[in-house]
This record gives sequence, structure tokens and C-alpha cells, in this order.
Amino acid sequence: MTMTPPPVATPGPSLVSTLPGRSYTDPEIFRREQERIFETRWICAVRCADLPKPGAYRTVLVGRESVLITRSRSGGLRAFLNVCRHRGARLCTEDSGEVRRTLQCPYHAWTYDLDGLLIAAPNLANMPDVDRAERGLLTVAVREWLGYAWVCLADEPPSFVESVVGAVTERLGDPAAIERYGAGELALGRRISYDVKANWKLIVENFMECYHCATIHPELTDVLPEFAEGFAAQYYVGHGASFADGAEGFTVDGSPGFGRIPSLGEEQDRRYFAVTVQPQVFVNLVPDHVILHRMFPLAPDRTLVECDWLYMTEVVASGADLERSVELFHRVNLQDFAACERTQPGMGSRAYRAGGVLVPSEHHIGAFHRWVAEAIAPPVPDGA
Ligand code: FES
Ligand SMILES: [Fe+2]
Repeated sequence: MTMTPPPVATPGPSLVSTLPGRSYTDPEIFRREQERIFETRWICAVRCADLPKPGAYRTVLVGRESVLITRSRSGGLRAFLNVCRHRGARLCTEDSGEVRRTLQCPYHAWTYDLDGLLIAAPNLANMPDVDRAERGLLTVAVREWLGYAWVCLADEPPSFVESVVGAVTERLGDPAAIERYGAGELALGRRISYDVKANWKLIVENFMECYHCATIHPELTDVLPEFAEGFAAQYYVGHGASFADGAEGFTVDGSPGFGRIPSLGEEQDRRYFAVTVQPQVFVNLVPDHVILHRMFPLAPDRTLVECDWLYMTEVVASGADLERSVELFHRVNLQDFAACERTQPGMGSRAYRAGGVLVPSEHHIGAFHRWVAEAIAPPVPDGA
């Protein structure tokens, strides 16, 4: 994304074009996005604490694939395609669960250890030529960062440091800034899943601009008054929006939140930072908690968004009332997703066939549009 200060006066045209409407409705475009973006990039899949011990597993949809994420006997993260190597049955059909030592296919009982090796199957002893490693589960690249397991379906994943960590550093301006929130050590205070009837790109675009904040986010602009100005204030390097003088915390009514995460710097206190990690993660940073959204596109007009509110372990362990803290961004989410759902039907209208426009405070969204367009562009045929 382009990182620019809030525009005072914009030379050149004020309005630039968006993607055309069919980018948000066409099943073929959606298929290409799944194949070329979600199945090639690092995807933030599950919170590591949701896999507390060997054999605990979660299944997530990455592009068009079900991916099974678990821990081996050594406690390390493992990710596999959730497909039995015998006749292709889905190995784990639940979203989450726990096995003791092995993953057994419910169809003909092929059995894999937690490293994916085929270790048992009916009559396997009579098939001495079967290579158990060769017939093991297909592995998926997995990395841990910010307390989440990130997976990548590509045979040769892009550099995690460049494509994921680099996106956060580019936004915050300082590689140490994100680490000071200690997201990996925070505890899950609340998780809310939103089934949004809108294309995933509408959700990304909405998160990237604040032109709408004054219109639809009264509680947020009370706490962050500069958001009411409609500038893309959150998008220039290193800038965090200041809390209102009267706001004691990042809460729905400006009431006090919790103690500041001790490792934060002074420049991070009483400030809100928003980061987008393309294609499917939004991170919101405030002094006493971290809010992390993961998006999973289900259809051209439907996206699952999982939102986690993370607090210091002692805050969660104390049983403190998180309600006013969670309520602020839950309302923001509902307001944002309602706006996206209101926009989705227009994407199929003849009025939007050629797309719409971005005002100057939204121009940086154009970089996202170009990124998507380049990713899904057909390859140049050989010899062309
Ligand atoms: S399909 Fe899994 S054991 Fe046959
Ligand atoms: Fe918003």
C-alpha cells in the first residue's frame, strides 16, 4: 500500500477509478484470487494457543483447500492438506478436536502419525513395497508469528520476513514496534466470528480508509477524533491516531481500559495503530490490547471474518469485565460489515459496471487494486 501523509491539497485528478463491479461478483475472478493469492501467500490460520498440546488440531479453509494444523509429539506445529492419501476422504471433518497419537481416516482406517507419516492401514503388512513416507500426508509450510500459525500452500513460499513481517514494519516504521505488544504472550479475551455477505476485497478496502469513519463510527471517532476528519491518517508510516483528551481508554464509552502493556514505548501509549497484512489480516494495536482479524473468503459475495481480542494474561485470568473494551471494536466491525454488505449488491449493478471512484484520502487503495489485478492477470502465453 502507498503510505502518504493526509493530503492537504492534491495535485492532479481528485478521483481515480476503482476495480470494475464484476471483480466483486464474478466466480472466475474469485477462483483466480483463491488460486493466485490465497493459495500462494502466507495466510494467518489459527491462534497457536488453540492448539495447546500434541494432537490438538484445527482445520481451516485456505483458498479452496482444507488445511489441518496440529502439534507433533515434540510440540512443534505441523500443517497438512486435510485429505487422506488413500482415496481422498477428508481426514478431519470437525473445525477442531484432539487425537491422542494418530490421525485415522474414518473411511478405511489409514492411520498417520502427528508428523504425517503413514503408520498403519488394514493389511499394510501384506504390502511391503508401500513407502510410508511417500504415502504420508502432504505437508503445508507453517510458521509461528504474533502467536498465530501462518500457513502457505505454495511449493516455494514467499519470504515470510519480507511479505508478512515487512508489511507490518512498512506501516509502523520500526521493526521493534509490533514486538513490544508481545502478541504471542497475550491471552484470548474474546473471539467473535462474522459471516459477512460481501466480497473479501470490499472488507480490505473498507479497512484501509477512514473516509467513512465520521459517517458510520460515532463511538470510534469519539475516542479517536482525528478519524472524524476523514483523512487516511492511519496510513502514513509510523503514525498512530491519538486518543481524545477526555478518553481514558480504548473503550466504547471512553472509560478506563486496562494497564498498558509494560513493554510498550511512550510513543505507543494512548495511540491506535492499524495495520493491513495482505491478503487477509488486520491488526489493531492499542496500549492495553491487540485486535486481530483473519478473513476467509467463502464465495464471491461471502467472507468469514474471525476477530480476536487479546489481553495480558493476568487481565484475562482475573476475570475482569472486558465488555466495554470489546464492545468498541465489535460495534466498529458491525458498522463496517453492514457497510460492506450494503455495497455488495451494487457491485452487480449496471451502474457499477465500470467501477466507482476513490477520493484523495482513498487513493492508496489503488495500490491494493493493482496488487490484486497483477496477481490474477493471466500469464503471458509462451512465445507471445
Ligand atoms: S480414503 Fe482414507 S483410508 Fe481410504
Ligand atoms: Fe470502519
